[in-house]
Amino acid sequence: MWPFDEIDRLERRAELDRPAAPARAAVHRLLDDRKPLKDALHGVWLGHPLHPVLVQVTLGSLLSASLVDLVGGRRSVSSGLIATGLLLTPPTVAAGAADWSDSNPDQQRVGVVHAAANGLAVTCYAAALVQRARGRSGRVLSLLGAAISTVGATLGGHLAYHQSLGPNHTDRVRDHAPQEWRPLGRLADLPDGAPVRRDAGEVPVFVLRRGTEVTVLANSCPHLSAPLSDGEVTGSDGDARIVCPWHGSEFSLTDGCVVHGPATAAVPVFAARVVDGGVQARIVESAGAPTL
Ligand code: FES
Repeated sequence: MWPFDEIDRLERRAELDRPAAPARAAVHRLLDDRKPLKDALHGVWLGHPLHPVLVQVTLGSLLSASLVDLVGGRRSVSSGLIATGLLLTPPTVAAGAADWSDSNPDQQRVGVVHAAANGLAVTCYAAALVQRARGRSGRVLSLLGAAISTVGATLGGHLAYHQSLGPNHTDRVRDHAPQEWRPLGRLADLPDGAPVRRDAGEVPVFVLRRGTEVTVLANSCPHLSAPLSDGEVTGSDGDARIVCPWHGSEFSLTDGCVVHGPATAAVPVFAARVVDGGVQARIVESAGAPTL
């Protein structure tokens, strides 16, 4: 159905990789050595992606301004709303760029067009304010900004709801993971210090043996479902972490919590025990329970 078929096609337009590549490199150059800032922009501190939260206020202000203009409301009200939206645009763009730079190629293609549409919309709103400063109404530009930002918002919705950029990809693990102890094989068969994948019932799990201690987590990264058993273990003792092989999210091996993004949701944790040389695991109802 139009226009969604067209948006689907955007995901496969390889020519969009050309503007995406230098933009992605620039974002990584800016943020990769500034982890606290990068984590803040992803929303690690919030436990939720920050970009959609900021979008509500930014886009809400701009669209409200256009509605005021549409019904012939007071120009000072519309201008105040546009100014609010423009003030909030830089942090909204920064949070979106951070998320976008750690996404898959098909998501980045749609993201490039999403950013271009929103950039054009913001330019229209800024030009409307300039026109008003010169004594003109700026109404047409305000309405044009609303029309273009609706296109940008539709693409943003496609990224979030159709391409799943932002949701917690392990949210349903607890529904399918075993509540009862399930065997994962012999302790002696697990490599010491190197993670492997096993299955707890129907759920793939990350299993790490360190001496006689065994840590079990869901094997999917909450960010975009990378297999965590392919990741690298770093740190030691209470600071030990698994680094996701795709975009570098780091999760505590103690409680599955996010240490560094882009992920903002914790990895589900399993309790583990060794009985007669065999490793067993079952899901832990809430994050934070230690390995048994
Ligand atoms: S899949 Fe992206 S950080 Fe793990």
